[in-house]
Amino acid sequence: MPATPLFSQLPSYRETQQLASALQPGSVSAMLASDPQRASDFTLAAAGLQLDYSKQLVDRKALQALLTLAAETGMSSAIAGLLNGERVNNTEDRPALHTLLRASSADGLADKFAEVTAARETMRQWSERLHDGRHSGFSGLPITDVVNIGIGGSDLGPRLVNEALRPYHGNVSCHYVANVDPADLQDTLLDLDPASTLFIVCSKSFRTEETLTNSLAARQWMKNAGARDEDLDKHFLAVTSNLEAAADFGISPGNCLPMWDWVGGRYSVWSAVGLSCAIAIGWDNFQAFLDGAAAMDEHFGTAPLASNMPVIMGLLEVWYVNFFGAGNHVVLPYDNSLQKLPDFLQQLTMESNGKRVSRDGQALDYRTGPVLWGSAGTMGQHSFHQLLHQGTELCPADFVLPLTTHTGMTEQHRRLVANCLAQSRTMMVGRSLDQARESLVSRGMESRQAEALAPHLAMPGNRPNSVITMAALTPATLGALIALYEHRTFVSGVLWGINSFDQWGVELGKEIGVQILGLLSGEESDAAMDSATRRLIDEWLAAQ
Ligand code: F6P
Repeated sequence: MPATPLFSQLPSYRETQQLASALQPGSVSAMLASDPQRASDFTLAAAGLQLDYSKQLVDRKALQALLTLAAETGMSSAIAGLLNGERVNNTEDRPALHTLLRASSADGLADKFAEVTAARETMRQWSERLHDGRHSGFSGLPITDVVNIGIGGSDLGPRLVNEALRPYHGNVSCHYVANVDPADLQDTLLDLDPASTLFIVCSKSFRTEETLTNSLAARQWMKNAGARDEDLDKHFLAVTSNLEAAADFGISPGNCLPMWDWVGGRYSVWSAVGLSCAIAIGWDNFQAFLDGAAAMDEHFGTAPLASNMPVIMGLLEVWYVNFFGAGNHVVLPYDNSLQKLPDFLQQLTMESNGKRVSRDGQALDYRTGPVLWGSAGTMGQHSFHQLLHQGTELCPADFVLPLTTHTGMTEQHRRLVANCLAQSRTMMVGRSLDQARESLVSRGMESRQAEALAPHLAMPGNRPNSVITMAALTPATLGALIALYEHRTFVSGVLWGINSFDQWGVELGKEIGVQILGLLSGEESDAAMDSATRRLIDEWLAAQ
């Protein structure tokens, strides 16, 4: 079989590159001024979200070229393949069916869908029992605190959703422990009572070192408080595809909720991995979260590429990475409850698209997934926005802005919104040298001094950004937002010709970690260690 052409060999690649070079010095402000339709034409609506990409450094011709590239990669059939359960994860020979987890029906996937609906029902029952305070611990006290022990995809999604939907919380508090650093577990348990605490051991593989270590310590904490072995089922649930390992740990099958090998960890918040969130916000709200994501799936699967929100976002990502040399992407939620969004998106995008070979193993001669970073506005304005505005690094940005606040403090929220819109506009308009000089002179500065200082105030502008808005941050719009970024990640991966659903790169570090743990524990080992690592091991041993 002939190898699939790489992205850089696609027929329209060169032309797109030329269009990008022609646009480099282009002024986004001028494009907006000369095209009265641009602001509305470059805004898409889907599943309760609006994407305004009118401040991106693209014109209609460039967009058309990008859409041609998408067509040349077979984007439409790739999307259909993902949604229909084709084995898109080719290195592990599996589909990636996270969309099935939020679907309300599934043509052609009846067996898997039956498992999903059965698991959803079990999850609903557990979540209602805990949410309503009907589940008691070993002393008869109702459970008031749930601790999710998991890491990566078994932590970041539920942690984000739990925090983002705080206004929907009931009486049970959920906590998250991920780090193998004992301080994480210890700090979390400090204010908790074992008699009213339930742990969810969340691990698809049930083999992850951090999760198992923390779970053993949690079990010991429970036993130290007087729980007997036969009480443990009142305090431990597992979410896993490895029932045997969960049973070895002491969690009985009736307390295990399933995971499947066809759902990647970073795409799993829709499964029982989201159980802690369903307990916190109640089942109806969790169902609304699933429905919001399903509405985005529907849009992704049916909208033409030119008006398909995840497609446009993926094309823009590739545009800057491959034609402008951008090595990063910044996400700036202007809503404090979304402050974990960048952490979640880091795993989603960087574990998915941090790849250096194509789906069929060819080394790539172009860049793939950029570094994703960010934080909740307005804090970044007083920290890293200086670099966004005047640094030499191109940082394409997404602003995420719910238009209303759950706090009832509308005046203060107005300030938040003003800051968001101001940052988005400032990135675009910048300030010319002349404007900088004039502003200094108008403030009474002597002209020679103004001349010297002006270059420090000048800002090039044209720094590309989109604004994603929603009427309010609700379970449904949060679901749609997460699904939007999942699909954007897929679209970029298709363009780059990579498999977005494996993560082989994390394995070697785990293996070497085991070897080093042996050496730190004084075991004899054949593992060859370099002199630098050996010296650090000796330094640690000497410090004990
Ligand atoms: O090490 C990376 C990883 O495999 C992620 O892909 C995954 O989300 C995380 O570890 C946790 O895995 P598990 O749910 O199997 O404990």
